[in-house]
Amino acid sequence: MEISLTGRTALVTGASMGLGYATAKAFYLAGARVAILARREGPLEEAAENIRALSIDGAQIKPFVCDVSNPEQIGETHDRVIADLGSVDILVNNAGQSAAMPFLEVSDEAWQTDLDLKLFAAIRLTRLVWPKMLANRWGRVINVLNTAAKAPPPNSAPTSVTRAAGMALTKVLAGEGAPDNILVNAMLIGFIKSDQIRRMHESRGGEQSLEEFMVAAGERLPMGRMGEAEECGALALFLASDAASYVTGCAINMDGGLSKVV
Ligand SMILES: NC(=O)c1ccc[n+]([C@@H]2O[C@H](COP(=O)([O-])OP(=O)(O)OC[C@H]3O[C@@H](n4cnc5c(N)ncnc54)[C@H](OP(=O)(O)O)[C@@H]3O)[C@@H](O)[C@H]2O)c1
Repeated sequence: MEISLTGRTALVTGASMGLGYATAKAFYLAGARVAILARREGPLEEAAENIRALSIDGAQIKPFVCDVSNPEQIGETHDRVIADLGSVDILVNNAGQSAAMPFLEVSDEAWQTDLDLKLFAAIRLTRLVWPKMLANRWGRVINVLNTAAKAPPPNSAPTSVTRAAGMALTKVLAGEGAPDNILVNAMLIGFIKSDQIRRMHESRGGEQSLEEFMVAAGERLPMGRMGEAEECGALALFLASDAASYVTGCAINMDGGLSKVV
C-alpha cells in the first residue's frame, strides 16, 4: 500500500530534529506541503533545506520560527502558515523535552513551563486549526506523548502528569471530531534516538560514547534496541493518511514493547 498526502497541508511542531524532523520528512516524501516549527532558526532552516533537497513534485517544506510555549507566537505563526500554505489539514503536536524529577523538587514554575510546552501548545494550536478541519470535514491531529501518560512511574513529574492530560485531550477531541471526520490520535514514545537522548547521555557524563550508551539502553528494552526517529515518522504518516480512516481516539505505544500497559 502506498500512502499519499498529495494535496494535504501539515504543520509539525518541534521539527528541526528528532521525531518531528523524521515526521516532516515522511510527510514531504508523501507529497504534502509541510510547515515545520522550532525556536532556533539555524537548525530549522537546515532541516528545511535537507528535506527540500529531496525534490518531490508538488510537495513543499516551509520553516517557521516559533516558540510554541508562547501563545502570541502561536497565533502569529498560525496566521503566517495560513497565508503561505492556505490551511492546516494535519497537525502534529510534537515539540517537547523531558522533565522528570521527584515530586517535591517540582516548583510551580516548572509545572507551568511543562504544561505550557506540552499541553497548552497543543490546545492552542488545535483550537486554531480545528474550525477549518470542521468546514472541510477532514482533519488529523496527532499528539506525540510519552509512555508515562498511561503508566506514570515515580519521579516522573511534571512530565507524566502533563502527558496524561495530553492523552485525555486526545480522547475528548477524538469524540468531538469523529462526526466530521477529524481523527485524533496519540503516539506514546519510549526510547527513540534523537537529540533528547544525546542530551541525556551528555548530562550523565560517564565513559561511554553516545553510540555505546544507546546500545546499552536499547539492550534493556524488549526489542533489544532503541527506536529510530524514522519509525515514528512512519507511524505518524499512517495516522495522517486516508489509510487510517477508521482509527481515532487511540494512544499507541511506540516503544518496542517497553510499556507494561497496552
Ligand atoms: N526521544 C525519545 O526517546 C522521547 C521519549 C519520550 C517522549 N518524547 C517526546 O517526543 C517529542 C520529540 O522528541 P525528540 O526526542 O525528537 O526531541 P529533540 O530531538 O530534542 O527535538 C525537539 C524538537 O522540538 C523543538 N522544540 C523544543 N522546544 C520547543 C518550543 N518551545 N517551541 C518550538 N519547538 C520546540 C526543538 O527545536 P528548538 O530547540 O530549536 O526549539 C527540536 O526541533 C517530544 O515531545 C519529546 O518529549 C521523546
